[in-house]
Amino acid sequence: MKIAFVGKGGSGKTTLSSLFIRHLAASGAPVIAVDADINQHLGAALGLEEADAAALPALGEHLPLIKDHLRGSNPRNSSAGTMIKTTPPGEGSRLLRVQEDNPVYDACARPVELDGGAVRLMVTGPFTDADLGVACYHSKTGAVELCLNHLVDGPDEYVVVDMTAGSDSFASGMFTRFDMTFLVAEPTRKGVSVHRQYKEYARDYGVELKVVGNKVQGQDDIDFLRAEVGDDLLVTVGQSDWVRAMEKGRPPRFELLEEPHHEALRRLRSAADATYARRDWERYTRQMVHFHLKNARSWGNERTGADLAAQVDPGFVLREGVTAPA
Ligand SMILES: Nc1ncnc2c1ncn2[C@@H]1O[C@H](COP(=O)(O)OP(=O)(O)O)[C@@H](O)[C@H]1O
Ligand SMILES: [Mg+2]
Repeated sequence: MKIAFVGKGGSGKTTLSSLFIRHLAASGAPVIAVDADINQHLGAALGLEEADAAALPALGEHLPLIKDHLRGSNPRNSSAGTMIKTTPPGEGSRLLRVQEDNPVYDACARPVELDGGAVRLMVTGPFTDADLGVACYHSKTGAVELCLNHLVDGPDEYVVVDMTAGSDSFASGMFTRFDMTFLVAEPTRKGVSVHRQYKEYARDYGVELKVVGNKVQGQDDIDFLRAEVGDDLLVTVGQSDWVRAMEKGRPPRFELLEEPHHEALRRLRSAADATYARRDWERYTRQMVHFHLKNARSWGNERTGADLAAQVDPGFVLREGVTAPA
């Protein structure tokens, strides 16, 4: 299951994704945690010391390796140089599984021990000014998108991505790559402003979107969120002393997290798991091709000097059970 946490800076994306990751790990589920947020804090929120978090390998710096691995023997991608972040898999491409060892995880993922077991953590690396503009080919999240487009995940295994709701994710199609998107919103006008924009994009592409109200203090806050986002509101959570203690560098055992927060996390998981029955690999593949052609036209062809539409394998559908070459 591919799950994104999006929202405004400061809304609590990193906090809630880290709690959700801890919840999954505590249940024994395999998890890949991905930090694709502008402010790279997921490692720290998962309990890494500052020096260890800073030493994590950046996905963005391993793009050539990632592309070379994924293209495998796909004749439509005979060189990594013409692969862009939206280049779709086809016959001969190597696909990724959540539970396996492969050169991409070897280079880019690091284990993080949590109560209940280790998760794999991957980070995009810190964003620079150039990443925040419109220069698509600089996109720090490009490596994440490539990986998601080559990932065949089943139920009960999870990829959780902490990311921003930036325009780059709408232009590239990144926002369509998830089984479930949790939009974290504080009960303020600013907090819910992202929802309106996200919902429009989401509606056009059949994206499953639910709002998680955060830093909610009482009924008035809940009423406000309900009035603003309607049925999209899935759960609300309040301030957590457990989180405060963790941020002081004194992380209590995860089971000591406040019970209402545990209950909220169970509801997030149920909502995410429930989408599996509606998963549609053909649509997933169609959407990646759609955004690839769009990016090819708007900058990719010019940038690479190649006709990137030729990378599309018309007969290929990404799905569970496809066998990939070694
Ligand atoms: N439910 C919560 N309880 C306590 N502190 C919280 C909660 N949600 C967020 N915070 C605090 O608010 C700040 C911003 O949260 P963060 O998760 O870093 O936001 P974002 O990733 O969206 O920028 C952090 O200091 C975090 O610890
Ligand atoms: Mg964050």
